[in-house]
Amino acid sequence: MEGNLGGGVNNQIEIETPNNITIKGILGLLMANTEATDIKKVISLGMGDPTSYSCFHSPDVAHDAVIESLASHKFNGYSPTVGLPQTRKAIADYLSRELPEKLCSDDVYITAGCTQAIELALSILARPGANILLPRPGFPIYALCAAFRNIEVRYFDLIPGKGWEVDLNAVEALADHNTIGIVVINPGNPCGNVYSYPHLQKIAETAKKLRTIVIADEVYGHLAFGANPFVPMGIFGDIAPVLTLGSLSKRWLVPGWRLGWLVTNDPNGTLKNPKFVERIKKYCDICGGPATFIQAAVPRIIQQTEDVFFRKTINLLKWTAEICCEKIKEIPCISCPYKPEGSMAVMVKLHLPLMVDISDDIDFCFKLAKEESVILLPGLAVGLKNWIRITFAADPVSLEEALGRLKSFCQRHSYQQNDHH
Ligand SMILES: Cc1ncc(COP(=O)(O)O)c(C=O)c1O
Repeated sequence: MEGNLGGGVNNQIEIETPNNITIKGILGLLMANTEATDIKKVISLGMGDPTSYSCFHSPDVAHDAVIESLASHKFNGYSPTVGLPQTRKAIADYLSRELPEKLCSDDVYITAGCTQAIELALSILARPGANILLPRPGFPIYALCAAFRNIEVRYFDLIPGKGWEVDLNAVEALADHNTIGIVVINPGNPCGNVYSYPHLQKIAETAKKLRTIVIADEVYGHLAFGANPFVPMGIFGDIAPVLTLGSLSKRWLVPGWRLGWLVTNDPNGTLKNPKFVERIKKYCDICGGPATFIQAAVPRIIQQTEDVFFRKTINLLKWTAEICCEKIKEIPCISCPYKPEGSMAVMVKLHLPLMVDISDDIDFCFKLAKEESVILLPGLAVGLKNWIRITFAADPVSLEEALGRLKSFCQRHSYQQNDHH
């Protein structure tokens, strides 16, 4: 059928797709560029899905809870679009453990993963002329979602030499009366940063000064294994309103279950304005939220997952981050300015002048995929050209193998090696 979309002589309207790079898009192209053999299996350190490695498996109690919920036959119907009451309550109680002011169920909106929480946040804040401040490097879904909502994106830098802290001067310089929010990802993807209490407080104070809000992406909440503990941004909700976004995906290692949340942390009640609440609810009616039986399993998942499960994940991530940093030190043409202290990824800088025939990060990643069947994410995909993002949520053996191949690739393509020939 000849339609109005995507070209053709009958076109009445021009439809443009935002030309943002997506992580999935670029990883798909890289994957297509590999030449796997029996000896050299493809190893991907590109995606943030740890479940592709069997050492990162979800807790049994989570499976039991979902099976129980499904077997009960009680959760085959629609849930309220803001989420089941017991699910909202379970998330409110879970997040309240670390907050000075307790959340209530009405503060919580259940979404299909943190991705839909991002979409919900941007959609409810969007208005003509709006702009949003995003971190660079960052998570590309924000810019893509902003493009669909006609929200102008303004980037502030994260500073590698200062633990990838937010450049607050840049934030102040970028903001104006149309700024709808400042996005903060902590623990950070792609940098592995875990911000200190004082830095988070300063961010909240900056938001207050600029009369805007903080959108706190805590999808990696609690996945911190360095000097700084994880501090939820919601603690500073009395300084500036905070929309906290999160999900079960990373901490419970179930990204495919699509269970996330958007939470208003706002003791002063700015976000509780009835009109704004109505707007959130209406948008939830569009979204629909995650499967009811998964939602119904959440109270048991939250209450019964034992600490030992969380500790095991943290220890494993700490170990694999260590392996990553040690191996990177052996490779002169890449360097890591900040040892990751949380999340599942680290950014490394490419030193192109040391390399013979590599033009940029994209070229690097495509040649690496082709020659070594190792997938890494070009920094451009997260906003930093000529950097690379390495995901270390992999089993230690595969990680060592992949980084070994990275090392020989770099040796082959660096000047020192060629000079000997
Ligand atoms: C910073 C950040 N926010 C949001 C998401 C999306 O989370 P979910 O898988 O729960 O949709 C991710 C996923 O990798 C992420 O890294």
